This record gives sequence, structure tokens and C-alpha cells, in this order.
Amino acid sequence: MSMRAHVGDQLIVESPTSGATKRDGEIVGLHHDDGTPPYDVRWSDTDQITLVFPGPDAHIHPIGHGAEGQREATGQRASATTHRSTRSLSEAVVMSLVEDATAAPSMHNAQPWRFQYSRRRRVFHLRADLRGSLPHFDPELRALHIACGAALMNLRVAVAHEGWEAQTRPLPDPADPMLLASVTLTRPLGDEADPAALYPAVRTRHTSRYPFAETEIPPSVRTALVDAADREQVSLSFASDWHLRSVVDLALEGEARNLTDAGVAADLARFTRATDDARPATEGVPEYAFGPRRRVGNAPMRDFAGGKSIPGRPTADFETFPHLVLLSTSRNRPVDWLRTGQAVERLLLRATLEGLSASFVTQALEWQDLRWPLRDPMSGMAYVQMVLRLGYGPPGTQTPRRPVHDVLDIEP
Ligand SMILES: Cc1cc2nc3c(=O)[nH]c(=O)nc-3n(C[C@H](O)[C@H](O)[C@H](O)COP(=O)(O)O)c2cc1C
Repeated sequence: MSMRAHVGDQLIVESPTSGATKRDGEIVGLHHDDGTPPYDVRWSDTDQITLVFPGPDAHIHPIGHGAEGQREATGQRASATTHRSTRSLSEAVVMSLVEDATAAPSMHNAQPWRFQYSRRRRVFHLRADLRGSLPHFDPELRALHIACGAALMNLRVAVAHEGWEAQTRPLPDPADPMLLASVTLTRPLGDEADPAALYPAVRTRHTSRYPFAETEIPPSVRTALVDAADREQVSLSFASDWHLRSVVDLALEGEARNLTDAGVAADLARFTRATDDARPATEGVPEYAFGPRRRVGNAPMRDFAGGKSIPGRPTADFETFPHLVLLSTSRNRPVDWLRTGQAVERLLLRATLEGLSASFVTQALEWQDLRWPLRDPMSGMAYVQMVLRLGYGPPGTQTPRRPVHDVLDIEP
């Protein structure tokens, strides 16, 4: 019987001796209505499209048959080890991957991102969405890049979990600085666990503004967190002794300034949501995620209530010696901010899997004169990009996100 294919089918070329797949690709174009050869094939290894007259060593793996087809039809997810298709992703899978990406943290939950997916080229583009920028907190867009870096990390994790190897390019077009990254799905993934193994934490990670226990973080866990940041070319250090006291003081100073700054108050008013707020609850920090008011303790918590009292909000005692980690880069360019975001998310996912909770301590980073002294001069670290508080405590509360169709365009 002659070979017949549909657009979207997979062409597999096998080694005549071992039967192993030599090359595979997606049939993206037919030259005859009855589906007989030749075909336009986009090869998974090069992403190039060539005209192919399949030889005897080639066969077609049709779409819509077997477990893969059913999974695509229902939008269910497959694990990296079971997924081996080179086909384009279905709309349901693309949407689910972007939903994973948007579970990332962003300053004030402003979600300053937008995604485009090109089915033909199998590439995601991540763009900055300036509607989610914070003019007073973040005039140079550093926090925006960090949030988008975190979303990029989630996308990388989700794509790997879906069974794809991906090539990530930060700032791929120098002429378009708001195009922050491209993620091209190149070929089915082997059995690599990294970063797919982080996937279970993508939707369970939340910022926790609760008190944490004063329990030590074991050395093996600390090492794993240092390694997580290191993989994204970011240095991580735990603040201790005099440096810890100094970081706490700087954060408290930043927080005190924030409470009396009109511009900061305007950003807070825009991005916090009272329980009776009439605005759509798809962005911003809702009152139920503010956490309790600090009575005693040195954990520098941002007060999203801006000093106002909220009826029924409890008070609590926070840690005397919080675990604070600093993430730093040797330079201070947008690409370093994107790296920081990926490192932050990678370490938060890892921390979540280790049973740790986390909150952000960025108050001192928002004031130029407080940012520089944050660093530990003994460690040689250069630009502190992020301070996080880690510990064993309540996992935090899920906060809303914009619906995926508001932040994603799918192109043919
Ligand atoms: C760059 C950046 C700075 C942040 N700064 C703070 C902060 O100072 N205090 C705080 O409580 N949360 C801070 N957050 C956390 C956000 O408020 C949080 O991610 C957002 O509300 C979404 O909630 P989720 O992390 O629970 O998903 C920051 C997040 C990012 C990415």
C-alpha cells in the first residue's frame, strides 16, 4: 500500500539495522491531495523544513491515534518519559503551558507579561507588558524583568514536563528590548529530570506572609538552593551575623520610607484588593494574602495595608532571626535581571519541594541608596538583585491571575 499522510503526522526515519529512530519530523505540507509523497517535513533536530521523498527506511506515525492523540484531544498532560511526539502542540496544551508560566510571582501580582506561540515554528515569545509596570517601585523595569524571568523558568519547567527539549534565548532581538525571551521546542526530551522534576511545585508555590519556625535549614537543603541559583548563573548567599542584622535594618528602613511615600502609596492602591473591591480580581494582592500584622520579630514584611488597619486582621509574632538569602549577579543589565528571575523561581520551586515556604524582602532594593549597602563586602558579591525570606511555616495562599486568553496569542 502506498504511503499516505496528513499534515501534522510524524515522519520517522529508522536505522535499517538497529531500528532506532535516526531522524524525525513533522509533516507540515502535502503536495498531493491524496496524501502521497513528497512531503514538506520540519525536522525536529534542525527545525528546518525540507522537501522529502521518504525511502523504505521511513514510516508515518499518524496523529489522532493511540494514547498521544487522545491526550492531545483531552488536553491532558503527559510525563516527560511517556511523551515522544514531535507534532505541534494542541491549543489546550499551549494554554496549559502558559497557565503554568503565569503561576510565577510578580511584584504586587502585576503580571507584566504576554506570550505569543507560533505553531508553525513551535516557538514561544515572552514579551514585557508595560500595563503591569510599577512606575514608582520599579522605574528601571528591573522587577518587571525578574517577574518575567520567573515566568520564563516556569515555562521551561512546564515544557520539559510536557516532554520537550527547548532552546531558550534571552533578549533574542536587540532592536526589540521588550521581547524578553524566546523558547523554541526543538525535539522530544530524553529522560532528563532537570528541570521537569520541579513541575509539581509550579502551582503549589505561593508567597507566604506568615511567621516561620526558627528551625535551622539543613546544610543539604542550603546546598540544593545554592545550586538552583547557580544553574541560572546567579550567586546565592545566606545572610548571617552582622550582615543579617544589616539586611534586616535596611529592609525596615525601606519599608518605613515606603509608608510615607505618595508614589508608593499610589502603586499600592492600584495593586491591592480589599474584600469588597469592585475591580476585577485578576491582578494585585488580595487582602486575604496580606498575612498577619507583625507584633514582634525581625522578619521584614511588606505591609500591603499601607499602615491602615483592616478589621479582623490578626497580629502574630515573627522570627527573631529570619533566614534571608541574597541573590546577586556580577553585572546589572536586563539580561542579569532575567537570569535573576529564573534563579528566583528555580530556587522557590526547589524550596517548595523541600517543604520550605518563602516571602520576598525587596523593600531595600527599591531605594538606590539602600541597595548598595545590602551586599556583604566580604563575599565579593556585586549587585544584589533579590532578597528572599525562607523558613518552615504555612505555605501561603493562592492569588488570582489574568485568564490565559488575556495574555496569550496563538499564531498559525
Ligand atoms: C520582583 C518582586 C518583588 C516582590 N516584592 C515583594 C515584597 O517586597 N513583599 C512581598 O510580600 N511580596 C513581594 N513579592 C511577591 C508578590 O507580591 C507575589 O508574587 C504576588 O502577589 C503573587 O503571589 P504569589 O507569589 O503567592 O503567587 C515580590 C515579587 C517579585 C517578583
